[in-house]
Amino acid sequence: MCMKSDILKVLYTEEEIQQKVKEIGQQISEDYKDKNPIIVAILKGSIIFMADLLKNITIHTETDFMAVSSYGESFQSTGIIKILKDLSCSIKGKDVIILEDILDSGNTLSYLKSLLEQRGPSSVKIVTLFNKPEGRQVPVYPDYIGFNIPNEFVVGYGLDYNEKYRNLSFVGVLNPEVYKKA
Ligand code: PRP
Repeated sequence: MCMKSDILKVLYTEEEIQQKVKEIGQQISEDYKDKNPIIVAILKGSIIFMADLLKNITIHTETDFMAVSSYGESFQSTGIIKILKDLSCSIKGKDVIILEDILDSGNTLSYLKSLLEQRGPSSVKIVTLFNKPEGRQVPVYPDYIGFNIPNEFVVGYGLDYNEKYRNLSFVGVLNPEVYKKA
């Protein structure tokens, strides 16, 4: 079955996303031009964004990854954050950029930002490609936002439903029939 047939409507095309990622990459390159930031991608949703963003950053960077659980296999936030994979190096004295595909309730980033701030970094900033302001349960203020999106269930470009649809090159609204059936 074709993945695209499960999509109700396209929110952002591949071209629109690539253009936005390019702009964020240029902005980060400018803002950190005398620094060597460490970009921490939060698995798994941010991997496609991470790969494309890195290609648009023109300064030296380091990279690392963390994995946390928030939604599990459901589509509602539980507010419970568990570290599944921690950083592989120290961030003491470093400029940290946390990279997320989506900011929704804020539970994940609120927890992660304070956790990383306790480890003595020089700075911690947040980049999210998609921001759902209506979903917010705790305050989080990202430093770089790609797109503000409506409170709909979106998939593609790293965003999943039950681990599927991450490999769509665009972002779209999932047809509710798909999760009603489940
Ligand atoms: C998504 C996203 C964030 C989190 C945001 O991850 O990547 O980590 O949800 O939601 P919040 O603001 O409500 O906390 P998810 O748990 O779906 O895991 P995944 O990236 O592996 O798909």
